[in-house]
Amino acid sequence: MEVIIKDCAENASNLAAKIISGFIKKKPDTVLGLATGSTPLLVYKELIRLHKNEGLSFRNVTTFNLDEYAGLSPENPSSFSSYMKDNFFRHIDIPSLSTHIPDGYTKDLQSSCEEYEKKIAASGGIDLQLLGIGEDGHLAFNEPSSSLASRTRIKTLSEVTIKANASAFGGADKVPRHVITMGTGNILESKYCLLLAFGAKKASAVKNMVEGAVSASCPASALQLHRHAVIILDKPAAELLQNKDYYNYVYQNKPDWQRYE
Ligand code: PGA
Repeated sequence: MEVIIKDCAENASNLAAKIISGFIKKKPDTVLGLATGSTPLLVYKELIRLHKNEGLSFRNVTTFNLDEYAGLSPENPSSFSSYMKDNFFRHIDIPSLSTHIPDGYTKDLQSSCEEYEKKIAASGGIDLQLLGIGEDGHLAFNEPSSSLASRTRIKTLSEVTIKANASAFGGADKVPRHVITMGTGNILESKYCLLLAFGAKKASAVKNMVEGAVSASCPASALQLHRHAVIILDKPAAELLQNKDYYNYVYQNKPDWQRYE
């Protein structure tokens, strides 16, 4: 795991956008795994800026989102489908047929999960997976106790997650209880993972993910098994890390060929 601690969420997000744009410049048909929630908003903002001002093109990029609520139509303003259109897709040049979000609105959720996995495989697999982390240590919507080998499937949200997502629905009682999510096993298959976490309320989950035992009690700790996981934090999210001085030292002393900035 590579842990990078930036002084604020904006600088952390700009670095993440730089890494993503580097992938696309090198491989214009990059397959991106995308995330929702408050964490990636500044990354999308910066990628849109790079598209508008610096000619970054998403014309040949394919995307797969991590998760979607069950029972919400894609047009529902609280769906992740709407989130992605509003915060990213409609501002860039990606063809809509190249963007994929799990279908939580179908009657046959099980088949929709299987179809989703087939589409990811047919695309050649995810080159870079963007991730956040839940206050309970969840990765995508893989809540604590999810198998670390899990596949795309239906999950029930934890109370912590329902509370954290309540504002998007106007109250915890309105948050759907079920979701479709890529499994932790799918996430581990992506070639490169880029996880962002901001704010003191994520500090305990970040500590468990980076320095705790690999455990289904903190699904994000599965990233310790990933061949190339990069964790970008702001200072409050890094606060509880015992080895933060070492992570800073490693980042400052990276060889030139390995530097992002
Ligand atoms: P957040 O959610 O970005 O809204 O904090 C992250 C997550 O639940 O994975």
